Amino acid sequence: MCGIVGYVGKKCCADVLVDALSKLEYRGYDSAGIAVFTENGIEIAKSKGRLADLSEKMKNEGKPDGNVGIGHTRWATHGEPSDVNSHPHRGGEKVTIVHNGIIENYKKLKEMLIAKGRVFVSETDTEVVAQLLDLYYEGDPVAAIARAMQDVTGSFALGILFADHPGKIYAVRRESPLIVGVGEDERFIASDVPAILKYTAKYYLLEHEEIALLDENGVSFCDMQGNTITKELLTADWDMDAAEKQGYEHFMLKEIHEQPESIKRTVMPRIENGLPDLHECGITPESLRNFRSIYIVACGTAMHAGMVGKYVIEKIARVPVIVDIASEFRYREPLIGEGDLIIIISQSGETADSLAAMRLAKKLGATTLAVVNAKGSSIAREADMLIYTHAGPEIAVASTKAYMVQISVMYLLGFELALAKGKIDEAECRRLTALLLETPDYIAQILERKDEIEAMAKHLLDAQSLLYIGRGLDYALSMEGSLKLKEISYIHSEAYAAGELKHGTISLIYKGMPVIAVDTQKALHEKTVSNIKEVKARGAVTFLVCGESYQPDADIADYCFRVPEIDDLLMPMLAVVPLQLIAYHASVQRGNDVDKPRNLAKSVTVE
Ligand code: M6R
Repeated sequence: MCGIVGYVGKKCCADVLVDALSKLEYRGYDSAGIAVFTENGIEIAKSKGRLADLSEKMKNEGKPDGNVGIGHTRWATHGEPSDVNSHPHRGGEKVTIVHNGIIENYKKLKEMLIAKGRVFVSETDTEVVAQLLDLYYEGDPVAAIARAMQDVTGSFALGILFADHPGKIYAVRRESPLIVGVGEDERFIASDVPAILKYTAKYYLLEHEEIALLDENGVSFCDMQGNTITKELLTADWDMDAAEKQGYEHFMLKEIHEQPESIKRTVMPRIENGLPDLHECGITPESLRNFRSIYIVACGTAMHAGMVGKYVIEKIARVPVIVDIASEFRYREPLIGEGDLIIIISQSGETADSLAAMRLAKKLGATTLAVVNAKGSSIAREADMLIYTHAGPEIAVASTKAYMVQISVMYLLGFELALAKGKIDEAECRRLTALLLETPDYIAQILERKDEIEAMAKHLLDAQSLLYIGRGLDYALSMEGSLKLKEISYIHSEAYAAGELKHGTISLIYKGMPVIAVDTQKALHEKTVSNIKEVKARGAVTFLVCGESYQPDADIADYCFRVPEIDDLLMPMLAVVPLQLIAYHASVQRGNDVDKPRNLAKSVTVE
């Protein structure tokens, strides 16, 4: 989704803004722009396309010259990607803004403003806010912002310049994230930490309905009534390197390789005396024991991590778990209340549907537990209990290391719950926990064999469509493998429970159709093999991901990748790696923009 930055300092503002915006590219965008206080007032440069297009435009037409300004990458919602719809937007002569989020009542406001004689140049909801601010502005920026916010519904973060307050940036947020960075002689606003890491690790989190003012004297905060707010200065624990490619061709590849370390960082601090210990996250065996039922609610890959969680928790703790897509959960009047545990999984901690689902669950009296990667994000702050995953910044749109640490947490929770419920004894819990700690080494071994996977991926390139199949945990994994492939390679694929194929989907199989079969669960092996034979008999070309002890016959697998074997329960930690790499290489080989696939945004802050 859109990215906002702002800069107050001594450097060339345009350069800093473009550089900071480049660190937000991962959020997804289709146009970019900046507005800078110059000797001639506020000058705007904006362009459809990538930041490179904006830079090229500024090279040809001149770069706004000044030390204070705001910048934006736009992910189109209201109006097509175009120069005119790009941000920043002006509202009359006095106000210039950048905006992240959605103004839900923009149509009504636009009609009201047109009736007052206001003329609009773009199709965006953003211009409506710019005009509204201008309408209410009588020399006091805070009063105008507060008044305009009364009229506006929706979620948003705004960076605002008032022409008669040169050198000052105002910012305000409702729901959409915004931070205020503080460096040596320079200040920033940004939608996310990576944008400022090159300049400073110190930042404030702007809360809902708070206004920030940045100028050469420093930063200050107030509420909508203008009352001063004192805020805690935070320090980002992500270093610059974490947000750079460090020699890898793509962030996705780098992040796949970071998985062993991410697991260690996430799991090790939560193990005490060989057993899972989540009490620092507010979770105790007693609290876990008493929940009536467990829901896991999330979107996309995070929801697939929840699917693994369901299989694990149900298998060893014998507690029913319902996994739900957040956008469905929130609108189907869920049957939850006091005594239920709702686990919300989210890398960004800002996904609009997941956040809304969590708020609904709280309202209905359920206890919420967030499993979140981004520190200080909305979901992290509002949950009753919180387990941070320590994957570090995930820049590629396709989630890999975040998924890995999310499922690691599902294991820790499952083990602790099973022990608390008396479904496994301490020795078994210790054994499983020790195995979880072994997974980083096994993953490192798999990563050394990435050439084998690259070769396998070559055979998928011309496919119109393909299937992923598996049973049990392998089905949960197939869902993730399929999503990864389609989102970055643009090859259509579906995941199916292998046993369900013959109830309809098998009619899709044609001669030469690739089918990726995941077969790591020994107890289900015979059944899965039968299903593989069924597709093979109908002409499918099969790609098998299985445990290393299995030597498939030619009538099962055309291509095979064997992963090291540990307990069946933990096999998804290993088997997901070849699936991630298949998707990665298919995308590279098709010449796609791996880290920024078309139409997608990293952080989905609108529903
Ligand atoms: O930030 P979140 O984990 O809440 O994001 C959820 C999904 O949008 C995300 O996992 C998405 O499906 C990824 N692009 C998948 O790779």
